[in-house]
Amino acid sequence: MAKVKTTFFCQNCGTQYAKWQGQCNACKEWNTIVEELIQKPEKSDWKTPTSAVKKASVPLLINEIDSSKEARLDTFDGEFNRVLGGGIVSGSLTLLGGEPGIGKSTLLLQVSLKLPYRTLYVSGEESQKQIKMRAERINPNNSNCYILTETKTQNIFKQIEALNPDIVIIDSIQTLHSDYVESSAGSISQIKECTTELIKFAKETATPVLLIGHITKDGNIAGPKILEHMVDTVLQFEGDRNHVFRILRAHKNRFGSTNELGIYEMQGSGLREVSNPSEILISKKDKELSGNAIAATLEGMRPLMIEVQALVSTAVYGTPQRSATGFNAKRLNMLLAVLEKRAGFRLGAKDVFLNITGGITVDDPAIDLAVVASILSSNEDVSLQNDYCFAAEVGLSGEIRPVQRIEQRILEAEKLGFSTIFVSKYNKIALKNTLIKVQLISKIEDLVAFII
Ligand code: TYD
Ligand code: MG
Repeated sequence: MAKVKTTFFCQNCGTQYAKWQGQCNACKEWNTIVEELIQKPEKSDWKTPTSAVKKASVPLLINEIDSSKEARLDTFDGEFNRVLGGGIVSGSLTLLGGEPGIGKSTLLLQVSLKLPYRTLYVSGEESQKQIKMRAERINPNNSNCYILTETKTQNIFKQIEALNPDIVIIDSIQTLHSDYVESSAGSISQIKECTTELIKFAKETATPVLLIGHITKDGNIAGPKILEHMVDTVLQFEGDRNHVFRILRAHKNRFGSTNELGIYEMQGSGLREVSNPSEILISKKDKELSGNAIAATLEGMRPLMIEVQALVSTAVYGTPQRSATGFNAKRLNMLLAVLEKRAGFRLGAKDVFLNITGGITVDDPAIDLAVVASILSSNEDVSLQNDYCFAAEVGLSGEIRPVQRIEQRILEAEKLGFSTIFVSKYNKIALKNTLIKVQLISKIEDLVAFII
Protein backbone atom coordinates (compact mmCIF):
# COMPACT_ATOMS: atom_id res chain seq x y z
CA MET A 1 0.00 0.00 0.00
CA ALA A 2 1.27 3.43 -0.86
CA LYS A 3 2.40 5.43 2.12
CA VAL A 4 -0.02 8.20 2.99
CA LYS A 5 1.70 11.55 2.72
CA THR A 6 0.49 14.67 4.39
CA THR A 7 1.69 18.26 4.38
CA PHE A 8 0.56 21.39 6.15
CA PHE A 9 -0.69 24.32 4.13
CA CYS A 10 -1.56 27.83 5.20
CA GLN A 11 -5.14 28.28 4.00
CA ASN A 12 -4.56 31.98 3.62
CA CYS A 13 -1.43 32.22 1.48
CA GLY A 14 -0.69 28.65 0.45
CA THR A 15 2.73 28.33 2.09
CA GLN A 16 3.69 24.72 2.72
CA TYR A 17 5.09 23.45 6.04
CA ALA A 18 6.48 20.10 7.13
CA LYS A 19 4.76 20.30 10.50
CA TRP A 20 1.97 22.20 12.15
CA GLN A 21 2.52 25.60 13.71
CA GLY A 22 0.22 28.24 15.12
CA GLN A 23 1.20 31.18 12.97
CA CYS A 24 2.13 31.28 9.30
CA ASN A 25 5.65 32.67 8.81
CA ALA A 26 4.77 34.08 5.42
CA CYS A 27 1.50 35.93 5.97
CA LYS A 28 1.54 36.11 9.79
CA GLU A 29 -2.04 34.84 10.07
CA TRP A 30 -2.89 32.69 13.08
CA ASN A 31 -4.59 29.29 12.98
CA THR A 32 -4.63 29.05 9.21
CA ILE A 33 -2.36 26.02 8.89
CA VAL A 34 -4.22 22.83 8.10
CA GLU A 35 -3.01 19.33 7.41
CA GLU A 36 -3.86 18.04 3.96
CA LEU A 37 -3.38 14.62 2.47
CA ILE A 38 -1.28 14.54 -0.62
CA GLN A 39 0.03 11.75 -2.74
CA LYS A 40 2.96 12.56 -4.94
CA PRO A 41 1.63 12.17 -8.45
CA GLU A 42 3.73 10.06 -10.80
CA LYS A 43 2.53 12.35 -13.53
CA SER A 44 0.32 15.28 -12.95
CA ASP A 45 -0.39 16.51 -16.43
CA TRP A 46 -3.74 16.48 -18.08
CA LYS A 47 -2.75 13.91 -20.69
CA THR A 48 -0.08 11.35 -19.94
CA PRO A 49 3.14 11.64 -21.91
CA THR A 50 3.20 15.12 -23.48
CA SER A 51 5.14 16.96 -20.81
CA ALA A 52 7.93 14.37 -20.81
CA VAL A 53 8.96 15.28 -24.35
CA LYS A 54 8.72 19.03 -23.84
CA LYS A 55 11.61 20.74 -25.58
CA ALA A 56 13.99 22.84 -23.53
CA SER A 57 13.67 26.45 -24.64
CA VAL A 58 16.55 28.46 -26.07
CA PRO A 59 17.16 32.19 -25.67
CA LEU A 60 16.09 34.36 -28.60
CA LEU A 61 17.12 37.89 -29.51
CA ILE A 62 14.29 40.20 -28.56
CA ASN A 63 14.09 41.49 -32.14
CA GLU A 64 13.59 37.99 -33.44
CA ILE A 65 10.65 37.13 -31.22
CA ASP A 66 7.40 36.98 -33.08
CA SER A 67 5.27 39.73 -31.66
CA SER A 68 2.27 39.38 -33.95
CA LYS A 69 -0.87 39.87 -31.96
CA GLU A 70 -2.28 36.99 -29.94
CA ALA A 71 -5.31 35.41 -31.50
CA ARG A 72 -8.43 36.57 -29.69
CA LEU A 73 -11.90 35.10 -29.67
CA ASP A 74 -14.69 37.62 -29.86
CA THR A 75 -17.11 37.00 -27.00
CA PHE A 76 -19.98 38.88 -28.69
CA ASP A 77 -20.47 40.78 -25.47
CA GLY A 78 -19.23 44.36 -25.76
CA GLU A 79 -18.65 44.87 -22.04
CA PHE A 80 -16.88 41.53 -21.56
CA ASN A 81 -14.64 42.20 -24.57
CA ARG A 82 -13.78 45.64 -23.27
CA VAL A 83 -12.68 44.34 -19.88
CA LEU A 84 -10.63 41.54 -21.40
CA GLY A 85 -8.90 44.03 -23.71
CA GLY A 86 -10.64 42.98 -26.93
CA GLY A 87 -11.68 39.35 -26.56
CA ILE A 88 -10.40 36.14 -25.01
CA VAL A 89 -6.81 35.29 -25.88
CA SER A 90 -6.47 31.70 -27.04
CA GLY A 91 -4.78 29.41 -24.55
CA SER A 92 -5.38 31.86 -21.69
CA LEU A 93 -6.80 31.21 -18.26
CA THR A 94 -9.26 33.74 -16.91
CA LEU A 95 -10.51 33.71 -13.35
CA LEU A 96 -13.80 35.40 -12.47
CA GLY A 97 -14.36 36.11 -8.78
CA GLY A 98 -17.30 37.61 -6.95
CA GLU A 99 -19.71 37.35 -4.04
CA PRO A 100 -22.21 34.49 -3.99
CA GLY A 101 -25.35 35.34 -5.94
CA ILE A 102 -23.86 38.32 -7.71
CA GLY A 103 -24.27 36.64 -11.11
CA LYS A 104 -20.99 34.92 -12.01
CA SER A 105 -22.66 31.77 -13.31
CA THR A 106 -25.24 33.86 -15.13
CA LEU A 107 -22.58 35.99 -16.81
CA LEU A 108 -20.49 33.08 -18.06
CA LEU A 109 -23.48 31.01 -19.09
CA GLN A 110 -24.78 34.00 -20.98
CA VAL A 111 -21.43 34.49 -22.70
CA SER A 112 -21.27 30.81 -23.64
CA LEU A 113 -24.79 30.94 -25.04
CA LYS A 114 -23.88 33.90 -27.22
CA LEU A 115 -20.75 32.33 -28.64
CA PRO A 116 -21.01 30.78 -32.08
CA TYR A 117 -18.15 28.38 -31.21
CA ARG A 118 -18.37 25.01 -29.57
CA THR A 119 -18.40 25.72 -25.86
CA LEU A 120 -18.25 23.37 -22.92
CA TYR A 121 -19.74 24.63 -19.67
CA VAL A 122 -18.67 22.41 -16.80
CA SER A 123 -20.58 22.86 -13.58
CA GLY A 124 -19.79 21.30 -10.26
CA GLU A 125 -22.47 23.30 -8.51
CA GLU A 126 -25.69 22.91 -10.43
CA SER A 127 -27.42 20.07 -12.26
CA GLN A 128 -27.85 20.06 -16.02
CA LYS A 129 -31.54 20.70 -15.52
CA GLN A 130 -30.94 23.74 -13.35
CA ILE A 131 -28.56 25.16 -15.92
CA LYS A 132 -31.05 24.47 -18.68
CA MET A 133 -33.71 26.39 -16.76
CA ARG A 134 -31.36 29.30 -16.33
CA ALA A 135 -30.38 29.16 -20.00
CA GLU A 136 -34.03 29.33 -20.99
CA ARG A 137 -34.38 32.59 -19.14
CA ILE A 138 -31.38 34.03 -20.91
CA ASN A 139 -31.25 32.79 -24.47
CA PRO A 140 -33.05 29.57 -25.29
CA ASN A 141 -31.80 28.93 -28.81
CA ASN A 142 -28.16 28.02 -28.92
CA SER A 143 -26.93 24.79 -30.39
CA ASN A 144 -23.20 25.07 -29.71
CA CYS A 145 -23.15 25.00 -25.96
CA TYR A 146 -22.58 21.71 -24.13
CA ILE A 147 -23.27 21.34 -20.43
CA LEU A 148 -21.37 18.87 -18.28
CA THR A 149 -21.86 18.31 -14.58
CA GLU A 150 -18.63 16.84 -13.29
CA THR A 151 -16.07 17.65 -10.65
CA LYS A 152 -13.21 15.26 -11.34
CA THR A 153 -10.63 16.84 -13.62
CA GLN A 154 -9.59 13.53 -15.20
CA ASN A 155 -13.19 12.90 -16.29
CA ILE A 156 -13.53 16.46 -17.53
CA PHE A 157 -10.43 16.07 -19.69
CA LYS A 158 -11.80 12.81 -21.07
CA GLN A 159 -14.97 14.60 -22.15
CA ILE A 160 -12.97 17.49 -23.54
CA GLU A 161 -10.96 15.12 -25.69
CA ALA A 162 -14.12 13.56 -27.07
CA LEU A 163 -15.86 16.89 -27.68
CA ASN A 164 -12.92 19.08 -28.67
CA PRO A 165 -14.48 22.40 -27.60
CA ASP A 166 -13.19 25.84 -28.64
CA ILE A 167 -13.66 27.23 -25.18
CA VAL A 168 -14.09 25.69 -21.72
CA ILE A 169 -15.87 27.23 -18.75
CA ILE A 170 -15.50 25.81 -15.24
CA ASP A 171 -18.01 26.67 -12.51
CA SER A 172 -16.22 26.67 -10.06
CA ILE A 173 -12.55 25.93 -9.41
CA GLN A 174 -13.31 25.24 -5.72
CA THR A 175 -15.55 22.28 -6.62
CA LEU A 176 -12.97 20.47 -8.77
CA HIS A 177 -10.83 17.65 -7.55
CA SER A 178 -8.02 15.69 -9.10
CA ASP A 179 -7.08 12.07 -8.50
CA TYR A 180 -3.45 13.01 -8.03
CA VAL A 181 -4.12 14.81 -4.78
CA GLU A 182 -5.88 13.17 -1.86
CA SER A 183 -7.27 16.13 0.02
CA SER A 184 -10.84 17.33 -0.34
CA ALA A 185 -12.17 19.66 -3.05
CA GLY A 186 -11.61 23.33 -2.30
CA SER A 187 -8.45 22.76 -0.29
CA ILE A 188 -5.26 24.58 -1.19
CA SER A 189 -3.52 21.57 -2.70
CA GLN A 190 -6.57 20.60 -4.78
CA ILE A 191 -7.05 24.09 -6.15
CA LYS A 192 -3.35 24.30 -7.01
CA GLU A 193 -3.32 20.92 -8.70
CA CYS A 194 -6.53 21.42 -10.69
CA THR A 195 -5.40 24.85 -11.86
CA THR A 196 -2.03 23.48 -12.94
CA GLU A 197 -3.75 20.75 -14.96
CA LEU A 198 -6.07 23.31 -16.56
CA ILE A 199 -3.18 25.63 -17.41
CA LYS A 200 -1.31 22.76 -19.07
CA PHE A 201 -4.41 21.86 -21.02
CA ALA A 202 -5.03 25.47 -22.09
CA LYS A 203 -1.45 26.13 -23.18
CA GLU A 204 -1.01 22.84 -25.01
CA THR A 205 -4.24 23.02 -26.96
CA ALA A 206 -4.54 26.83 -27.23
CA THR A 207 -8.06 26.54 -25.81
CA PRO A 208 -9.13 29.42 -23.57
CA VAL A 209 -10.44 28.41 -20.16
CA LEU A 210 -12.67 30.58 -17.98
CA LEU A 211 -12.82 29.73 -14.28
CA ILE A 212 -15.27 30.90 -11.69
CA GLY A 213 -13.78 31.41 -8.24
CA HIS A 214 -15.48 31.87 -4.90
CA ILE A 215 -14.40 34.67 -2.66
CA THR A 216 -13.75 34.67 1.06
CA LYS A 217 -15.56 36.89 3.50
CA ASP A 218 -12.95 39.61 3.17
CA GLY A 219 -13.38 39.76 -0.58
CA ASN A 220 -10.34 37.81 -1.79
CA ILE A 221 -10.60 34.85 -4.09
CA ALA A 222 -10.78 31.72 -1.93
CA GLY A 223 -7.74 29.50 -2.08
CA PRO A 224 -4.09 30.33 -2.29
CA LYS A 225 -2.93 33.71 -3.53
CA ILE A 226 -0.87 31.69 -5.96
CA LEU A 227 -4.06 30.98 -7.92
CA GLU A 228 -4.16 34.61 -8.95
CA HIS A 229 -0.50 34.44 -9.96
CA MET A 230 -1.04 31.34 -12.05
CA VAL A 231 -3.87 32.59 -14.25
CA ASP A 232 -3.46 35.20 -16.97
CA THR A 233 -6.42 37.37 -16.11
CA VAL A 234 -8.34 37.97 -12.89
CA LEU A 235 -11.76 39.56 -13.22
CA GLN A 236 -13.96 40.69 -10.38
CA PHE A 237 -17.72 40.87 -10.65
CA GLU A 238 -19.10 43.28 -8.10
CA GLY A 239 -22.10 45.33 -7.21
CA ASP A 240 -24.69 45.68 -4.54
CA ARG A 241 -27.03 42.73 -4.57
CA ASN A 242 -29.95 45.00 -3.82
CA HIS A 243 -29.25 47.10 -6.87
CA VAL A 244 -29.50 46.01 -10.44
CA PHE A 245 -26.10 47.23 -11.60
CA ARG A 246 -23.11 44.91 -11.76
CA ILE A 247 -19.58 45.96 -12.51
CA LEU A 248 -16.95 43.80 -14.11
CA ARG A 249 -13.35 44.89 -13.48
CA ALA A 250 -10.00 43.41 -14.39
CA HIS A 251 -7.66 43.15 -11.39
CA LYS A 252 -4.92 41.57 -13.42
CA ASN A 253 -4.66 41.27 -17.16
CA ARG A 254 -1.61 39.96 -18.97
CA PHE A 255 -3.14 40.95 -22.29
CA GLY A 256 -4.64 44.36 -21.68
CA SER A 257 -5.25 47.23 -19.32
CA THR A 258 -6.75 46.82 -15.88
CA ASN A 259 -8.50 50.17 -16.04
CA GLU A 260 -11.42 49.05 -18.08
CA LEU A 261 -14.83 48.54 -16.63
CA GLY A 262 -17.88 46.67 -17.86
CA ILE A 263 -21.33 47.57 -16.61
CA TYR A 264 -24.34 45.25 -16.65
CA GLU A 265 -27.86 45.47 -15.45
CA MET A 266 -29.40 42.32 -13.91
CA GLN A 267 -32.77 41.70 -15.48
CA GLY A 268 -35.28 38.90 -15.43
CA SER A 269 -33.74 37.56 -18.59
CA GLY A 270 -30.09 37.71 -17.68
CA LEU A 271 -27.56 40.51 -17.72
CA ARG A 272 -28.02 43.42 -20.07
CA GLU A 273 -24.96 45.31 -21.28
CA VAL A 274 -25.11 48.95 -20.25
CA SER A 275 -23.31 50.92 -22.92
CA ASN A 276 -24.51 54.37 -21.84
CA PRO A 277 -24.10 54.20 -18.05
CA SER A 278 -24.31 57.92 -17.35
CA GLU A 279 -27.84 58.22 -18.62
CA ILE A 280 -29.04 55.50 -16.29
CA LEU A 281 -27.12 56.43 -13.18
CA ILE A 282 -28.58 59.89 -12.96
CA SER A 283 -32.12 59.82 -11.66
CA LYS A 284 -34.28 62.05 -13.78
CA LYS A 285 -35.98 64.48 -11.46
CA ASP A 286 -38.38 67.23 -12.35
CA LYS A 287 -37.79 69.09 -9.14
CA GLU A 288 -34.44 70.14 -7.81
CA LEU A 289 -33.75 68.67 -4.39
CA SER A 290 -31.23 69.83 -1.88
CA GLY A 291 -28.30 67.55 -1.17
CA ASN A 292 -27.93 66.18 -4.70
CA ALA A 293 -24.93 66.83 -6.93
CA ILE A 294 -23.64 65.18 -10.08
CA ALA A 295 -19.99 64.21 -10.46
CA ALA A 296 -18.27 63.76 -13.81
CA THR A 297 -16.03 60.80 -13.01
CA LEU A 298 -13.90 58.54 -15.10
CA GLU A 299 -13.57 54.80 -14.70
CA GLY A 300 -10.79 53.49 -16.88
CA MET A 301 -11.21 55.16 -20.23
CA ARG A 302 -14.88 55.68 -19.73
CA PRO A 303 -16.58 58.84 -18.49
CA LEU A 304 -19.31 58.14 -15.97
CA MET A 305 -21.70 60.71 -14.57
CA ILE A 306 -22.86 59.71 -11.12
CA GLU A 307 -25.13 61.21 -8.57
CA VAL A 308 -24.01 62.00 -5.04
CA GLN A 309 -26.60 62.51 -2.30
CA ALA A 310 -25.90 63.98 1.10
CA LEU A 311 -28.05 64.46 4.13
CA VAL A 312 -26.82 66.79 6.84
CA SER A 313 -28.91 67.07 9.97
CA THR A 314 -28.44 68.12 13.56
CA ALA A 315 -27.21 65.24 15.68
CA VAL A 316 -29.81 64.33 18.25
CA TYR A 317 -28.04 61.44 19.93
CA GLY A 318 -24.68 62.40 21.37
CA THR A 319 -21.80 61.76 18.99
CA PRO A 320 -22.64 62.81 15.45
CA GLN A 321 -22.81 59.99 12.94
CA ARG A 322 -20.94 59.86 9.67
CA SER A 323 -21.83 57.26 7.16
CA ALA A 324 -20.87 56.83 3.53
CA THR A 325 -22.14 54.32 0.99
CA GLY A 326 -20.02 53.92 -2.12
CA PHE A 327 -17.50 56.48 -0.88
CA ASN A 328 -14.53 56.20 1.45
CA ALA A 329 -15.63 57.21 4.98
CA LYS A 330 -12.17 58.54 5.87
CA ARG A 331 -12.21 60.76 2.82
CA LEU A 332 -15.65 62.02 3.84
CA ASN A 333 -14.31 62.96 7.26
CA MET A 334 -11.44 64.77 5.64
CA LEU A 335 -13.73 66.77 3.37
CA LEU A 336 -15.92 67.67 6.35
CA ALA A 337 -12.85 68.90 8.23
CA VAL A 338 -11.85 71.00 5.23
CA LEU A 339 -15.33 72.54 5.08
CA GLU A 340 -15.20 73.29 8.78
CA LYS A 341 -11.74 74.78 8.87
CA ARG A 342 -11.52 76.52 5.49
CA ALA A 343 -15.07 77.62 4.87
CA GLY A 344 -16.31 78.03 8.43
CA PHE A 345 -19.23 75.59 8.35
CA ARG A 346 -20.08 74.16 11.76
CA LEU A 347 -20.47 70.54 10.75
CA GLY A 348 -18.89 69.08 13.87
CA ALA A 349 -22.26 68.71 15.61
CA LYS A 350 -24.14 67.38 12.60
CA ASP A 351 -24.93 63.92 11.32
CA VAL A 352 -23.70 63.47 7.77
CA PHE A 353 -24.88 60.68 5.49
CA LEU A 354 -23.52 60.27 2.02
CA ASN A 355 -24.69 57.99 -0.72
CA ILE A 356 -23.55 57.30 -4.26
CA THR A 357 -26.66 56.24 -6.10
CA GLY A 358 -26.89 53.06 -8.15
CA GLY A 359 -24.85 50.99 -5.67
CA ILE A 360 -21.65 51.93 -7.43
CA THR A 361 -18.28 52.53 -5.83
CA VAL A 362 -15.80 54.75 -7.61
CA ASP A 363 -12.35 55.72 -6.48
CA ASP A 364 -11.84 58.67 -8.75
CA PRO A 365 -10.69 61.70 -6.72
CA ALA A 366 -12.65 63.96 -9.08
CA ILE A 367 -15.79 63.06 -7.16
CA ASP A 368 -14.64 65.24 -4.20
CA LEU A 369 -16.12 68.46 -5.47
CA ALA A 370 -19.54 66.91 -6.00
CA VAL A 371 -19.40 65.47 -2.47
CA VAL A 372 -18.59 68.88 -1.03
CA ALA A 373 -21.30 70.52 -3.13
CA SER A 374 -23.93 68.01 -2.03
CA ILE A 375 -22.99 68.45 1.65
CA LEU A 376 -23.17 72.24 1.36
CA SER A 377 -26.45 72.01 -0.49
CA SER A 378 -28.01 69.81 2.17
CA ASN A 379 -26.56 71.82 5.05
CA GLU A 380 -27.91 75.09 3.72
CA ASP A 381 -31.03 73.44 2.34
CA VAL A 382 -30.61 75.06 -1.03
CA SER A 383 -30.91 72.90 -4.09
CA LEU A 384 -28.31 72.95 -6.83
CA GLN A 385 -29.48 73.50 -10.36
CA ASN A 386 -29.92 70.02 -11.76
CA ASP A 387 -27.94 70.84 -14.88
CA TYR A 388 -24.77 71.58 -12.89
CA CYS A 389 -22.02 69.02 -12.57
CA PHE A 390 -18.63 68.85 -10.87
CA ALA A 391 -15.19 67.38 -11.56
CA ALA A 392 -12.30 68.28 -9.26
CA GLU A 393 -10.33 67.03 -6.29
CA VAL A 394 -10.38 68.96 -3.02
CA GLY A 395 -7.08 69.45 -1.19
CA LEU A 396 -6.50 69.79 2.54
CA SER A 397 -6.12 73.53 2.36
CA GLY A 398 -9.44 73.85 0.58
CA GLU A 399 -7.89 74.33 -2.83
CA ILE A 400 -9.67 72.88 -5.84
CA ARG A 401 -7.20 70.61 -7.56
CA PRO A 402 -7.03 69.61 -11.21
CA VAL A 403 -7.94 66.11 -12.36
CA GLN A 404 -6.78 64.08 -15.31
CA ARG A 405 -8.45 63.93 -18.72
CA ILE A 406 -10.73 66.84 -18.02
CA GLU A 407 -11.69 67.29 -21.67
CA GLN A 408 -13.30 63.88 -21.78
CA ARG A 409 -15.39 64.69 -18.72
CA ILE A 410 -16.47 68.05 -20.13
CA LEU A 411 -17.51 66.48 -23.43
CA GLU A 412 -19.53 63.77 -21.66
CA ALA A 413 -21.30 66.40 -19.54
CA GLU A 414 -22.03 68.41 -22.66
CA LYS A 415 -23.37 65.36 -24.44
CA LEU A 416 -25.78 64.71 -21.59
CA GLY A 417 -27.11 68.25 -21.68
CA PHE A 418 -25.54 69.80 -18.57
CA SER A 419 -25.33 73.58 -18.67
CA THR A 420 -22.34 74.13 -16.39
CA ILE A 421 -19.41 72.06 -15.18
CA PHE A 422 -17.29 73.21 -12.23
CA VAL A 423 -13.62 72.39 -12.62
CA SER A 424 -10.33 73.50 -11.14
CA LYS A 425 -8.76 76.72 -12.37
CA TYR A 426 -5.47 74.85 -12.62
CA ASN A 427 -6.70 72.35 -15.16
CA LYS A 428 -5.25 72.96 -18.60
CA ILE A 429 -8.19 72.74 -20.94
CA ALA A 430 -7.58 72.65 -24.66
CA LEU A 431 -11.26 72.64 -25.63
CA LYS A 432 -12.71 75.64 -27.39
CA ASN A 433 -16.25 76.63 -28.29
CA THR A 434 -18.04 74.24 -25.99
CA LEU A 435 -21.77 74.61 -25.53
CA ILE A 436 -21.40 73.81 -21.86
CA LYS A 437 -20.13 76.55 -19.57
CA VAL A 438 -16.85 75.59 -17.93
CA GLN A 439 -16.76 77.33 -14.55
CA LEU A 440 -13.22 77.60 -13.21
CA ILE A 441 -12.80 77.75 -9.44
CA SER A 442 -9.69 77.67 -7.29
CA LYS A 443 -10.85 77.37 -3.69
CA ILE A 444 -13.80 76.16 -1.66
CA GLU A 445 -15.02 79.69 -1.02
CA ASP A 446 -15.59 80.11 -4.78
CA LEU A 447 -17.91 77.12 -4.73
CA VAL A 448 -19.73 78.43 -1.66
CA ALA A 449 -20.30 81.72 -3.46
CA PHE A 450 -22.01 79.89 -6.30
CA ILE A 451 -24.15 77.67 -4.16
CA ILE A 452 -25.40 79.93 -1.43
P1 TYD B 1 -25.79 33.47 -10.06
O1 TYD B 1 -25.25 33.59 -11.44
O2 TYD B 1 -26.32 32.15 -9.65
O3 TYD B 1 -24.72 33.94 -9.01
P2 TYD B 1 -23.31 33.32 -8.62
O4 TYD B 1 -22.98 32.28 -9.63
O5 TYD B 1 -22.39 34.52 -8.65
O6 TYD B 1 -23.46 32.79 -7.25
O7 TYD B 1 -26.86 34.63 -9.90
C1 TYD B 1 -27.98 34.43 -9.24
C2 TYD B 1 -28.79 35.66 -9.08
O8 TYD B 1 -29.13 36.31 -10.28
C3 TYD B 1 -30.07 35.19 -8.47
O9 TYD B 1 -30.26 35.89 -7.27
C4 TYD B 1 -31.12 35.45 -9.48
C5 TYD B 1 -30.53 36.47 -10.38
N1 TYD B 1 -30.95 36.31 -11.78
C6 TYD B 1 -31.74 37.27 -12.36
O10 TYD B 1 -32.12 38.25 -11.74
N2 TYD B 1 -32.09 37.13 -13.69
C7 TYD B 1 -31.69 36.07 -14.44
O11 TYD B 1 -32.02 35.98 -15.62
C8 TYD B 1 -30.87 35.08 -13.81
C9 TYD B 1 -30.42 33.89 -14.58
C10 TYD B 1 -30.52 35.23 -12.49
MG1 MG C 1 -22.81 30.21 -9.35
